[in-house]
Amino acid sequence: MGDKGLFFKKKKQIETTVLPKHIAIIMDGNGRWAKKRSLPRSAGHAAGSKTFKTIARYCNKIGIKYLTVYAFSTENWKRPKSEVDNIMNILRDYLKDTDNFKGENIRLEFIGDRTPLAEDIKELMLKAEADSADATGLHLNIALNYGGRDEIVHAVKRIVSEGLGPEDITEQAISDRLYTAGQPDPDFIIRPSGEYRLSNYLIWQSAYAEYWFSDILWPDFKPEDLDKALSDFSRRNRRFGGVEDNK
Ligand code: IPE
Ligand code: IPE
Ligand code: MG
Repeated sequence: MGDKGLFFKKKKQIETTVLPKHIAIIMDGNGRWAKKRSLPRSAGHAAGSKTFKTIARYCNKIGIKYLTVYAFSTENWKRPKSEVDNIMNILRDYLKDTDNFKGENIRLEFIGDRTPLAEDIKELMLKAEADSADATGLHLNIALNYGGRDEIVHAVKRIVSEGLGPEDITEQAISDRLYTAGQPDPDFIIRPSGEYRLSNYLIWQSAYAEYWFSDILWPDFKPEDLDKALSDFSRRNRRFGGVEDNK
């Protein structure tokens, strides 16, 4: 019994150091957070945007290499125009505030279909990407007008326009034409707000990801909650279709 206790203690200490390579977060629950406080939904999005900055900085600090956050989905255009405009304005303010990038060593990239976005936002996105291109810390992807199915459709269109034949179609050929080409697949997907679905997020890339769900609403999500999630991740036994590895 004593030996067993020691074994588990030792094993836990070792496992808590296993960090995911790529965390993906569905930043959900802004509206409900605002409703609980009798505030407009816009207040929820503003609070959610603060949480986003805090969590991105924290991920960079603890040495996470890739973080992908879901900011606006291809389905979110269904919302009232005033709410869509509000979300786009929050993004504008974030991108105009150069302090968000200076000294952070965070590399920013946008994934998703940019075509229908306002011209000034597209320019701000390109500038933010160019300004942070040499950063060596966290690689932060912001999924904007992103949909997993839409991403696969784009990849297939590229494959056809490049003239690939059936023999060239491999999993790698598809991965190489997704917005996340060249990046490791997310190994840890976090969804707060009490929903248990992917909502069209990274559906190809998440094939072998671990999931972590919580009732916390995104504006309330703290670095301590991420620590808890990471500690759970480090105890998961990832088999990838193989057999148990009894280290
Ligand atoms: C997530 O919060 C933000 C976006 C989808 C842009 P929601 O706005 O979906 O918040 P709930 O789900 O209504 O609480
Ligand atoms: C997913 O949240 C999209 C983002 C967080 C940007 P939604 O609130 O849009 O997802 P559903 O509608 O609950 O599936
Ligand atoms: Mg939601």
